[in-house]
Amino acid sequence: MYYLSIQGNQKLKGSVSISGAKNAALPLLAATLLSKNKINITNVPEVADVKTLLTLLGNLGSISSYENNNVTIDTTKVKSACANYDIVRTMRASILTLGPLLARFGHCEVSMPGGCAIGQRPIDLHLKALEQMGAKIELKDGYVLATAPQGLKGTTIIFDKVTVTGSENIIMAASLAHGVTKLVNVAKEPEVVQLCEVLQNAGVKIEGVGTANLTIIGSYGKLLDMKNFKVIPDRIEAGTYLCAGAITNSQITITDVIPEHIEAITLKLIQMGFGIETTKETITIIPTEKILPADIETTEYPGFPTDMQAQFMALCTQASGTSIIDERLFENRFMHVSELSRMGTNIKLKGHSATVEGNTELNAADVMATDLRASSALILAAFVAKGTTKVHRIYHLDRGYENLEGKFSLLGAKIERLEE
Ligand code: EPZ
Repeated sequence: MYYLSIQGNQKLKGSVSISGAKNAALPLLAATLLSKNKINITNVPEVADVKTLLTLLGNLGSISSYENNNVTIDTTKVKSACANYDIVRTMRASILTLGPLLARFGHCEVSMPGGCAIGQRPIDLHLKALEQMGAKIELKDGYVLATAPQGLKGTTIIFDKVTVTGSENIIMAASLAHGVTKLVNVAKEPEVVQLCEVLQNAGVKIEGVGTANLTIIGSYGKLLDMKNFKVIPDRIEAGTYLCAGAITNSQITITDVIPEHIEAITLKLIQMGFGIETTKETITIIPTEKILPADIETTEYPGFPTDMQAQFMALCTQASGTSIIDERLFENRFMHVSELSRMGTNIKLKGHSATVEGNTELNAADVMATDLRASSALILAAFVAKGTTKVHRIYHLDRGYENLEGKFSLLGAKIERLEE
C-alpha cells in the first residue's frame, strides 16, 4: 500500500497535458463487444479502472494489448457472457457490459455492482429499460440474469432519471436491437456523445446525438464494423488541475482539452474571481486578488458536475466568505468532509447541502481517501495546508487519475508516492 506525501504552502506553475477520459474509455471498451473486427483505440488513460475492464473483457474471451495509452482489442472470439462478481465488485462500471452482452448473445449473467462510498448506486433504470426491450431479467445470488433469446426489440423508453451509464447501456443494446428505439431523457455528457459518434461511425443510425432524445435504428443482431478512434480528454481531470491552480492562486495551463466540455467549471472559477483564458485546446487560469465564495448545485451535464463537487469544496475553504454546496445527484457524496475537517476546515452538513466557511487556515494531517474524487480534494487542500500532509488509501486515486503525482510534480508541487 502507498500514500502520497504532500508539502503545503505551494505555488504551482507551468502546464500539464490532460489524459483521455476514464468515463469515455469505459463505455467505449464495453462497446467493442458489439464489433465484428479488431479495433485500435488511442488516448486511453493508464488508470486502474481501464485495466480492470480489460481484465473482465479478457475473462470473456477478448484479446487485447494496452501500452502507451493505446489499446488494441479483438472481441470476435468472446464466448462467455458472464461477468463475475470478483471483478465487478472492484469496479461498478463493469455493469456497462450488460447491454452489449445481452444484445450480442441473447443472454448474460452480470454481477450486481453493489453500492459504493458515494451512494447506493442502483441499476433499476438499466434493467427496466432492457425489460421494455423484451428482455427477461432475474436477480439471483447477486447476479443479473438477463435473457432475450429472440434478440432485443426496438421500443420507446423514457428514463425516469438521467443516468449516464444507464443511457450508455441502452444505447449499446439498441444498436443491435430489432427495429427502432426512441430514448427520452438521455444523459448528454460528452462521454455519451462520443459513444454515439463511435457507434454512428460503425454504421448505426442515431439521430439527436447530444440532445436528451435519441432515435436509434438497430442492426437486427448484426455485429458492427467499428472503426479506430481516439478517446476524448478527461473533463474532470482537467477541472481538478484547474482547481489546483485556483486553490494555490497560481497561473497554470492545461493542454489537450476541449474547453466547451468544462464551461460549467470555468464559469464557476470566473465567478470566484479567477481569470480564464482559452484557446482551441488549452485553458489557462489566472490568479485573483481575492477568492470569492461560491454557490454550487451539482446537476447533469452541461450543469455543474458532481464529480467536481469535492474539489470545489476544498477550494471554497480558501474563499473570502461562506459558500453553499448542494449535492443533488448522490445521497452520500460528502465523505471528504470528515477528512477535510481533520485539516481544520469548518464545513456544516444538512441533508444534501454543505455550508463551507472560508478564510480557513489548513494544517497538514494524515487523511484517508474514500472515493476517487474525494481523494483529489484532499490533495488540493494539502497544497495550501501548513506542513506535510499524508493522503492514505490512494488506490482510489489510481482508479481515475493517470500519473497524478508525476503531473503535479511537473507543475512544481512537492508530492511523492511512498510505501506505507
Ligand atoms: C456516472 O456514474 C459516472 N461514472 C460517475 O463518475 C458520475 O459521478 C455519474 O455518472 C454522474 O455524473 C461513469 O461514467 C463510469 P448515474 P453512473 O447513473 O452512471 C441514480 C467518477 O468519479 N440512478 O448517472 O453510475 C443514481 O443513484 C464516477 O468517475 C438510479 O436511481 O451515475 C444517481 O443518484 C463517480 N437508478 C443518479 O441516478 C439507476 O438505474 C445519477 O446516476 C441508475 C442511476
